[in-house]
Amino acid sequence: MSEAAIEVVDAALRRVGAPALSYTEIAAGAAYFTKTGKDIEPGGEERAGEADAIFLGAIGLPSVRHADGTEISPHLRLRDRFGLYAGVRPVKAYPNAPQRLADPRAAGIDMVILRESTEGLFYSAAVHGRAEIIGDSEVRDTLRITRATTEKLHRFGFRLAQKRKARGHAGKLTCVDKANVFASMAFFRKIYDEIAPDYPDIATEYAYVDAQALNLIRQPWDYDVMVMENMFGDILSDLAGGLVGGMGMAACAEIGDGIGLFQPAHGSAPDIMGQDRANPLAAILSGALMLDYLAEKFGDDRLGDAAARIEQAVESGFAANRIRPMEFGGDMGTRAVTAEVLAQVAAP
Ligand SMILES: NC(=O)c1ccc[n+]([C@@H]2O[C@H](COP(=O)([O-])OP(=O)(O)OC[C@H]3O[C@@H](n4cnc5c(N)ncnc54)[C@H](O)[C@@H]3O)[C@@H](O)[C@H]2O)c1
Repeated sequence: MSEAAIEVVDAALRRVGAPALSYTEIAAGAAYFTKTGKDIEPGGEERAGEADAIFLGAIGLPSVRHADGTEISPHLRLRDRFGLYAGVRPVKAYPNAPQRLADPRAAGIDMVILRESTEGLFYSAAVHGRAEIIGDSEVRDTLRITRATTEKLHRFGFRLAQKRKARGHAGKLTCVDKANVFASMAFFRKIYDEIAPDYPDIATEYAYVDAQALNLIRQPWDYDVMVMENMFGDILSDLAGGLVGGMGMAACAEIGDGIGLFQPAHGSAPDIMGQDRANPLAAILSGALMLDYLAEKFGDDRLGDAAARIEQAVESGFAANRIRPMEFGGDMGTRAVTAEVLAQVAAP
């Protein structure tokens, strides 16, 4: 699937006359772990940090585990190491893709879940070894919210809402938390309140995460950008991805101060692996997010044009019913969907 994304990224750059990207490959994942006992090649993390951006394929297999029962997760270390606090997960309804809600307004779903990706409840995720394990009788995980990360996160959210507003969206940032019961979440909201006045053009709103799960089923078309703690974002972004089809549409960017990592939000889909059945669009749209990021990083509009070209190709392919992923009951596997996106990208 990464190959599909890279192929489409390269084609879009050629189409808009932008210079090609150069790639360095780093081995990682469950198959590599089975062979070598390491989840990423030696020096791989350092080399990833030298790049302008990281593109990560789906990693992991439920059958490949550490002795404590947890799965390999080098991507959590990459998030930690490079401070990739801003997890951007766009959720958009495409024409002719399945709508899980009967209400016709579901065709207008177009929102972003901004998931903090370095702390929250994932702070003590198994890979970091920070859980407090008291023999075989008790285990404590810690939910950590820091001012430094949360300030950056909320600013990122307000700026994202501004950028989207400039493209015709509502210009609203919803703070999703559980401030009614957790001190950490009240702190998260307090920092949101401190920062909001710097962005007077953006509408603000709060929601408790349990109510927000309900809201996302009842009226998802009302939301623009939602900012939340790591675990809440982990769960709500899958729910939201389901509203517009399934995991095969779930693109993801994880942005830090110095580098960005881009990957489909789904896993390795072991139930359909190697059968040319998986939907490559999450990976392809993650490639577009990477181009958008590089456009801003280097101030090169051509990269932004290439990103827009990919998004437009997916949109027009669905609209003309020329993209029909098997994931949605269609007749097109990974290769056929990729070929159609490539054709749309190259179209005059
Ligand atoms: N960032 C990552 O690399 C990442 C993220 C989530 C899970 N994982 C790993 O992936 C493995 C499988 O996890 P899982 O089954 O919970 O989640 P998954 O996302 O792989 O699959 C969940 C469901 O969605 C479907 N699906 C996922 N991607 C699809 C696509 N592109 N096209 C069509 N259908 C798709 C699968 O067939 C499955 O039914 C596990 O080892 C897990 O740890 C890795």
